[in-house]
Amino acid sequence: MLQDKDRIFTNIYGRFDRSLRGAMMRGHWDGTKAILEKGRDWIIEEMKASGLRGRGGAGFPTGLKWSFMPKQSDGRPHYLVVNADESEPGTCKDRDILRHDPHTLIEGCLIAGFAMGAHHAFIYVRGEFIREREALQAAIDECYDAGLLGKNNKHGYDFDIVVHHGAGAYICGEETALIESLEGKKGQPRLKPPFPANMGLYGCPTTVNNVESIAVAPTILRRGASWFSSFGRDNNKGTKLFMVSGHVNTPCTVEETMGITFRELIETHAGGIRGGWDNLLAVIPGGASCPVVPAADIIDCPMDFDGLRGVKSSFGTAAVIVMDKSTDIIKAIARLSQFFKHESCGQCTPCREGTGWMWRVMERLVRGEAQKHEIDMLLDVTKQIEGHTICALGDAAAWPIQGLIRNFRPEIERRIDEFSRNAHRVEPVMVAAE
Ligand SMILES: Cc1cc2nc3c(=O)[nH]c(=O)nc-3n(C[C@H](O)[C@H](O)[C@H](O)COP(=O)(O)O)c2cc1C
Ligand code: SF4
Repeated sequence: MLQDKDRIFTNIYGRFDRSLRGAMMRGHWDGTKAILEKGRDWIIEEMKASGLRGRGGAGFPTGLKWSFMPKQSDGRPHYLVVNADESEPGTCKDRDILRHDPHTLIEGCLIAGFAMGAHHAFIYVRGEFIREREALQAAIDECYDAGLLGKNNKHGYDFDIVVHHGAGAYICGEETALIESLEGKKGQPRLKPPFPANMGLYGCPTTVNNVESIAVAPTILRRGASWFSSFGRDNNKGTKLFMVSGHVNTPCTVEETMGITFRELIETHAGGIRGGWDNLLAVIPGGASCPVVPAADIIDCPMDFDGLRGVKSSFGTAAVIVMDKSTDIIKAIARLSQFFKHESCGQCTPCREGTGWMWRVMERLVRGEAQKHEIDMLLDVTKQIEGHTICALGDAAAWPIQGLIRNFRPEIERRIDEFSRNAHRVEPVMVAAE
């Protein structure tokens, strides 16, 4: 169990003063200049040693990603881009950082930008996050006024932050689509390589990081890599914001140690499962794109990258969607299929055509209006989409269906049997008397 003294986000519920003054009283912006004075290499090595893995879903090691930026500029500017698009269903942590603890992110931008030789950061905020953008902008303005940002600031490193407001498209959370959108184009993913570290925003070296990945960096550097890596297991280090939604008694966002078991997370912070543990059906552990895990497999599972891989799912963003036995699990997954179909940018044929095809089959499976061999046909189509598209939205659309078929095939078949029984039932015909 994480103790309050080890929580990085000290105002995630917005109970305290979120202004610069309040943030400083809680220890943020403390010794930032001294951190920068230790140099770029020290910062990157310390981030690597902390074991922090990206909090945006893919879990790529953050320090290593920063080290991919060229050491010397070839004349092109370097950019830091912060991904605050947060649109994956179930995920709702970055918005709390933006509106309640924005100084963690702003200080993180300065330090990360310095470590990668960037003098500009762009924060790309999801279109629907209007209040969050206002809170973030107000906090940035305070920093300019206090001389913490801008030219000739107190840290001796010129640094500007621009907030860019998106228009509400999930695909703009994919890092290269985000870059395209920032450049003023249609938000469609780019083929990689070239990777953003070589050719990103405006053709310049760029690193894209999630809000949480950047916001935890200052505290890690202040308290030391060994402090952060003392939480969690090998390869799964640190503390993490978990978002628990669905059929629990008290849904919440909470910072906890990586590797906490599902049972501990729910009992300690979410008030237990609605109707008790026997009423748990299944859990989507990391946001909409992660395969659903049945109750028996998740209850004692460590909530981290390796733990969830062990039950054939993934950690994603740690957006834990809990479903009790009142859930129509086929309908729930069909709803996600509709989401991915709606959000496909349409560039790749397997994703553009496949997401719609899968959704239509899923809708028939909800009613049982299908033949049993179509289950395998659907599974086969998910495999043809997975790994065959420009970006991971194709995978994200395929995985929930694969998880459903792997774990709930008997329920799909039962529904098909029921539908065909009802379809073949001959209703007695009432003949009205003359
Ligand atoms: C369809 C799609 C949507 C994504 N949406 C987000 C998002 O909203 N926020 C985010 O941080 N990463 C999102 N990602 C992941 C980003 O492409 C990228 O991996 C991430 O921002 C890197 O940050 P990190 O290394 O700090 O995790 C998305 C990826 C895909 C394929
Ligand atoms: S996988 Fe889908 S969302 Fe991604 S680039 Fe291809 S069509 Fe667009």
